[in-house]
Amino acid sequence: MTATKIAVIGGSGIYDIDGLQGAEWVTVKTPWGAPSDAILTGTLDGVEMAFLPRHGRGHVHSPSTVPYRANIDALKRIGCTDVISVSACGSFRDEMAPGDFVIVDQFIDRTFAREKSFFGTGCVAHVSVAHPTCPRLGAACLEAARDAGITVHDGGTYLAMEGPQFSTLAESRMYRESWGADVIGMTNMPEAKLAREAELCYASVAMITDYDSWHPDHGEVDVTEIIKTLMGNAEKGRDLVRRLPALLGADRAPCPHGCDRALEYAILTQEG
Ligand code: ADE
Repeated sequence: MTATKIAVIGGSGIYDIDGLQGAEWVTVKTPWGAPSDAILTGTLDGVEMAFLPRHGRGHVHSPSTVPYRANIDALKRIGCTDVISVSACGSFRDEMAPGDFVIVDQFIDRTFAREKSFFGTGCVAHVSVAHPTCPRLGAACLEAARDAGITVHDGGTYLAMEGPQFSTLAESRMYRESWGADVIGMTNMPEAKLAREAELCYASVAMITDYDSWHPDHGEVDVTEIIKTLMGNAEKGRDLVRRLPALLGADRAPCPHGCDRALEYAILTQEG
């Protein structure tokens, strides 16, 4: 058994955690540069927690400039075992309405202007991301959402786009009709891949703010509309997060899905 330390990476609208005991913002240095911001640490229900605002306080990093490698490395360095990503997204499904949450379990990575791996020259590794999220952590998020009275969908495919512009109508239709994506956002990749390389369990809670541009009864995506829904979502997101430590507990067995051993058969470079 090891001690659980839950990291929450908060997206637009979520900039801290309520009720943390011994709360302290700590600055963490990494070989990949500075993380998006200092990390808020403390305990909740006897479980260690760490909170990192993905875009930085004041929303200073765009989805393309978020230092994803530094963020994941910093969380690993301070001993986090589990990472919960909380982020806004658009929906490709009528039944996944603005205000609903989705516990994402698959990704299509369409990002192209971001550093995506800790491995390159010197040490080469290929981890599996066939199942990019941790089912154990996802189940805890689902339970926390249901307990908080949130309308939540169990599973969904998240298309990660580069942005910062929203999709064209043709792209939106293609992602939905041909590619089978359920939701769209700009930040979960390469975050999820890097968490796997860092052998951290990762779950993604996507909070729907809009119907993207495909929906015949809704207009184009617009930041003003998104922000309105985001404020309500953020309160629900914070409620969900508050419930996680009690569900996950202070002691942690090895991940039953092997997320914490992802590198075991992944490294090709010889030692020595
Ligand atoms: N974040 C929130 N809504 C989005 C959308 N429609 N497309 C991409 N990112 C989003």
